[in-house]
Amino acid sequence: MADTLTRGTANQAGAIVNPNAAAEAQDFLPLKGIDHVEFWVGNAKQAAHYYRALWGFAPLAYAGLETGVRDRSSFVMVQNDIRFVFTAPIGPDGEIAEHVARHGDGVHDIAFAVDDVGAAWRETTSRGARSALEPTEVEGTKGTLRRSAIHTYGEVLHSFVDRSEYHGAFAPGYHRVAKPAPAATGQALLEVDHCVGNVALGDMNRFVEFYRDVLGFAQLIHYDDKVIHTDYSALMSKVMTNGNGRIKFPINEPAAGKKKSQIQEFLDYYGDAGTQHIALRTEDICGTVRALRERGIEFLGMPHAYYESLPDRVGDVGVPIETLEELGIEADRDEEGYLLQIFTRPVQDRPTFFFEIIERHGSRGFGVGNFKALFEAIEAEQARRGNL
Ligand code: FE2
Repeated sequence: MADTLTRGTANQAGAIVNPNAAAEAQDFLPLKGIDHVEFWVGNAKQAAHYYRALWGFAPLAYAGLETGVRDRSSFVMVQNDIRFVFTAPIGPDGEIAEHVARHGDGVHDIAFAVDDVGAAWRETTSRGARSALEPTEVEGTKGTLRRSAIHTYGEVLHSFVDRSEYHGAFAPGYHRVAKPAPAATGQALLEVDHCVGNVALGDMNRFVEFYRDVLGFAQLIHYDDKVIHTDYSALMSKVMTNGNGRIKFPINEPAAGKKKSQIQEFLDYYGDAGTQHIALRTEDICGTVRALRERGIEFLGMPHAYYESLPDRVGDVGVPIETLEELGIEADRDEEGYLLQIFTRPVQDRPTFFFEIIERHGSRGFGVGNFKALFEAIEAEQARRGNL
């Protein structure tokens, strides 16, 4: 089956693209999209404030002592179609406290919206997924929420969620935030574009096969270490997508280089495989990044030389090159169109999880033309941390 994992034609940048990925995806597991992403963090109240005040998310719901939940505190934050949940332990024991002690803040669950959580659980566990939650009906005053869950890489879960008979804010046990504070204005993050997993050396193909065989995804792109390397470090990446193309999961593993791969730095500090970054799609990257910068969000910087060569490489991308350079935004072009993207620094103390913001104009790629410059920027940060 190895052939099917690398089928496709190499494009100019050397990435192997499979144009038939969506059609090849199996339909035994219809996923409507990403329902929410839950982060397990050390202090959910302050995380919620950070995402409201700096990132423009609005509070939707809360669960904790006041709502009858005794072991945790959870804040649900929304922006357009993005729904994040920040959960912290309120005691020293239990799986959340242990997760935070081991990993720091990080992604616990990338949950899918489905019509049938029982079928989703049966189809995946019968194909080898490890169950995290058998199909469960959670009753509340606002109806019934159905969910089940399986394990993926590291300690990350994929929950399956059916909200068709639930009419509350988020889930039983959560109270709608009565008068939500207004979200920050001047920016618009629309939806989760892709979620990237970092796995240990030698594990990439195992998880590519997991998403193919257990969830019915197909491989969209393969970047090998000849594509993704600098003078010092390298990584390999394959991108898996589901049948409707809405869910895109690149899987990275470190590759050998003269110095430590950024993927290995993540694995060392996270202590396990985990979610490296989530890309949020916008249709106004310049306005969004300007607003985020004014509020203090830190982005990776690109050298002036990157912008000198950019016009030759990507042509007109609708924004003056000077504006891209001022804001630190990168551009890339492939056969289908172009994209604009930017990456934050890690958003917690450990050099682990970060965000990408992406604006797409036809391109379904991931900015392969920026990889080398981007990784050199990341290596400069690694060196500052004493980790290169
Ligand atoms: Fe990305």
